[in-house]
Amino acid sequence: MADDNRNPPGQDAREKNSRSGVEIHDPDNASRSRRAFLKAVGATGLAAAAVPAWGRVGYVNDDKEEPAAQRPDGEAGPTAGQQRITLKVNGKPHTLDVAANMVLLDVLRHQLDLTGTKKGCDHGQCGACTIHVNGQAINSCLSLAIAHDGDEITTVEGLERDGQMHPIQQAFLEHDAYQCGYCTSGQMMTAVAILNDPSVGKDDLSVREAMSGNICRCGAYKNILSAIQSARKQMKPA
Ligand code: FES
Ligand code: FES
Repeated sequence: MADDNRNPPGQDAREKNSRSGVEIHDPDNASRSRRAFLKAVGATGLAAAAVPAWGRVGYVNDDKEEPAAQRPDGEAGPTAGQQRITLKVNGKPHTLDVAANMVLLDVLRHQLDLTGTKKGCDHGQCGACTIHVNGQAINSCLSLAIAHDGDEITTVEGLERDGQMHPIQQAFLEHDAYQCGYCTSGQMMTAVAILNDPSVGKDDLSVREAMSGNICRCGAYKNILSAIQSARKQMKPA
């Protein structure tokens, strides 16, 4: 543009100072670099915003393109920053290459497509991500996948047997123990762990206390309790 080729007022003095070796502040150059900088940052920000939130959960190779699937089936070793682990999930063995900082919840949902386990708070406070590891209920959002090499994992998809719903699934259905359903898989996984744990009392107060790590934003607590006590009878008939 014509304006860009014209010497702005004061430029001669600035050139003179520059030739004398004195470092000077050039507001015009600073303004142009600032515009270039903001342009670059704006483009980067838009690109980042387009990435699905789950793909940005602190992976070590965050700036590299993730492969579509990471199931090597023994053909090649793990790539840099990854580690090979084996998991037995719902009775099936899996060999997976995972980043060292990838949490178990993301591996289950995004590498094994087991999306029944939900991500709520991602901070160990809601229980939506509850699964069983070697029979114990854990929050999968708080656990690194590489810490579970060789472990046996059960997710909500693994509760049914041969097309038959687990008693807790049947009871949740019959007692209308959900509204939106987002917390339900976590509620059921904790409930099954409680019903299998002889150290948890059978009375309502003990069950409420044991279930207190599972939040239901729809407030279906009363029906959830009814469902658990009903399933107890089905699981351990008198
Ligand atoms: S998502 Fe894991 S506890 Fe909330
Ligand atoms: S049913 Fe909606 S959060 Fe529990």
